[in-house]
Amino acid sequence: MPGNIRLGVNIDHVATIRNARGGNHPDPLSVARALVGSGMDGITIHLREDRRHIRDADAEAICAWGAAGAGKPVNFEMAITDEMLSIATRLKPHGACIVPERRAEITTEGGLDVVNTRAALRPAIARLRDAGIRVSLFVDPSPGQVEAAAEIGAQVVELHTGAYANGKPGELNRLREAATLTAKLGLECHAGHGLTFANVQPIAALPEVRELNIGHYLIGEALLIGLPTAIAEMKRLMIEARL
Ligand code: PXP
Repeated sequence: MPGNIRLGVNIDHVATIRNARGGNHPDPLSVARALVGSGMDGITIHLREDRRHIRDADAEAICAWGAAGAGKPVNFEMAITDEMLSIATRLKPHGACIVPERRAEITTEGGLDVVNTRAALRPAIARLRDAGIRVSLFVDPSPGQVEAAAEIGAQVVELHTGAYANGKPGELNRLREAATLTAKLGLECHAGHGLTFANVQPIAALPEVRELNIGHYLIGEALLIGLPTAIAEMKRLMIEARL
């Protein structure tokens, strides 16, 4: 794979636009299909408790497409609730990324508190893994959270890059150290949130980071240059950062 780094494209906001009119257009599955060949290595969807963007029927159709030969691996972001665990184990996406979810938040504002919720996370991870789903935990770049993720059986850690994207001093170093620790503990390291053409390269350059999940910026940029072009440019920047 070029540059040994994958780009997961979060298409939640395709559904946000569809829902604004209440009809069927644009259809997230049709968009996912059209993006094959653009540089996208996987599709990310977040079925939220309030179904504000992706809905059950979208998740069902996209996971079925992802599992079929021509599809791309689906990364299913989910809160740790009984409902979501039942849906995930039924739809069997390639991966599940457990995220914290607060109803009033506009987006996923922070990482999971794995350290203090490991008792609830451990059986959920086991249930997903038993269904053949690779489990990722979305955490802030803190050594304690990464260690706890490894201890309770996660296979992947996705580092929250939101504070870095907001320009918080020292965040790139925290991400670098957390990525090194993730790999040292034998877990695959992903990263995402708030990444743009302007800030992606220092993150893509971290050698332990194997996948970036990017949504909002790509959809915004699509209004100017089109989604396949925005994805191709993001992927180009990611690969360039690893040369
Ligand atoms: N990764 C995770 C776990 C997320 O929750 C999100 C936001 O839904 C993203 C990546 C993508 O963030 P953004 O839309 O800011 O690119």
